[in-house]
Amino acid sequence: MNAIQMTGITKRFGDLVANDNVDFELKAGEIHALLGENGAGKTTLMRILYGLYHADEGDIQVNGRRVSIVSPKDAIHNRIGMVTQHFTLVSTLTVAENLTLGEKGSITINKRTIEQKISDAAEQYGIPVKPDALISSLSVGERQRVEILKALNRNAKVLILDEPTAVLVPQEVDVLFEVLERLRKSGLSVVFISHKLNEVMALCDRISVLRLGKMAGTVVKGETNKTELACMMVGHETFGVKRQGKAPRGKVILRVENLSLRDKKGLDTLRDVSFEVHTGEILGIAGVSGNGQSELTGILSGTIKPTGGQFHLEDRNLTGTEPLQITRAGIGRIAEDRHASLVGELTVAENIALEYLDEFVSHGVLDRKKIHQNAEKLIKEYDIKARPEDRLRTLSGGNMQKVILARTLSREPKFVLASQPTRGLDVGATDYVDHRLLDQRDRGAAVLLLSEDLDEIMSLSDRVAVIYEGQIVGILPIEEVTREKLGLMMCGSIGKQKT
Ligand SMILES: Nc1ncnc2c1ncn2[C@@H]1O[C@H](COP(=O)(O)OP(=O)(O)OP(=O)(O)O)[C@@H](O)[C@H]1O
Ligand SMILES: [Mg+2]
Repeated sequence: MNAIQMTGITKRFGDLVANDNVDFELKAGEIHALLGENGAGKTTLMRILYGLYHADEGDIQVNGRRVSIVSPKDAIHNRIGMVTQHFTLVSTLTVAENLTLGEKGSITINKRTIEQKISDAAEQYGIPVKPDALISSLSVGERQRVEILKALNRNAKVLILDEPTAVLVPQEVDVLFEVLERLRKSGLSVVFISHKLNEVMALCDRISVLRLGKMAGTVVKGETNKTELACMMVGHETFGVKRQGKAPRGKVILRVENLSLRDKKGLDTLRDVSFEVHTGEILGIAGVSGNGQSELTGILSGTIKPTGGQFHLEDRNLTGTEPLQITRAGIGRIAEDRHASLVGELTVAENIALEYLDEFVSHGVLDRKKIHQNAEKLIKEYDIKARPEDRLRTLSGGNMQKVILARTLSREPKFVLASQPTRGLDVGATDYVDHRLLDQRDRGAAVLLLSEDLDEIMSLSDRVAVIYEGQIVGILPIEEVTREKLGLMMCGSIGKQKT
């Protein structure tokens, strides 16, 4: 008997069939990966199981019994829990308060009892959390663990995780995996959505692949490999990007000199960071996340003021300038957190115009027609699977990223600042983004690529800088780069040899 059996699930959004007669089964005590390209229908299928969407056809069985799930309340009643990327925690309350929120009679429950209950659960499942900590003081990984505890606290036997690792740093991924292993041992079933084949192969027992809304198949981990999975996802073999020759490197566009940042606690998060990026080159910045990358991007995009040093775009000193001025000066940003630079409730067309609204004003009023036409053109150019009038929140992750690319790159910035541009993207979309970045280089822009993905850094960059504890420990031309060398530099074992 399966813990969950979904049969013949079909879900339409207008003309679009997001799930097409999908069968999915989840065994008790297994970690089951759900793979598929952006827009394949993974989130939709799991939202149906959690009662956030209603299937047009098909049925769901829990432990062999047919059930009706029309709201998350029904899902919770059937002991199903879901952790989405957008946490539902109240940041001004403590962990304990969040966990009891919505529980019957929660007001009358004694605080000590609750905290004790959480500590017990935390210990039982090996989930490190502090019951009395404010949510706002927690890291993303800690918040995610609170979400998991919240589901467990409601007696979940099935836990759905939608791209849980997309928001985590590598160390936190390890903690999450340990937690999930424990849950498996204690008999829970987990649905794990991810684009990272390495993670899937490391963690999961079985893997189901969705392709264009249809179930392409379910395989056992021991009987498959990454190539086969990639084929199942796209229906044919995939090829990584190949850099064709090296575009000639030109003059210096971005000059960063001795940038330093001391945070409120007096810690130096950036120390004397200096480098130059030339026209026609991609400078990759490799490093384990948390070594100063977000501070550096923050400074270069104007959201953080450095405590020392400066940076110039061509001859213009932009240190400490506002984000809007920086965009105007010719710096295009592809931000790390795509949800922070898009507005879900606005349309695709409005999101594309965002940040540049003044270009769409005529005689003091917003020219809606112009915004729409501009969007139509870019949707075609960037192959975005959406209409200008669609709400942004209805787009898949890959298509959201394409909206950001369209907005940023269509302005032909002189300098492109790309942080983790392919995080959360499937193989095909990653390939697409990588090619667009190479296009930027080839048209003569300077590109700074910050990524934790060494393969991405190595396949795109012309030179690679390594950042460690807020310092650039070395810059190497791509010909001299090896994975081992980068690895050693990234953990601080070799350093300071600039070229
Ligand atoms: N609320 C909605 N309204 C309209 N269309 C939607 C809605 N939710 C999803 N879709 C569409 O359904 C399709 C499947 O989307 P879904 O989010 O399930 O994909 P996914 O496999 O989770 O993709 P990703 O890997 O990018 O997260 C997409 O084309 C998406 O645009
Ligand atoms: Mg999704």
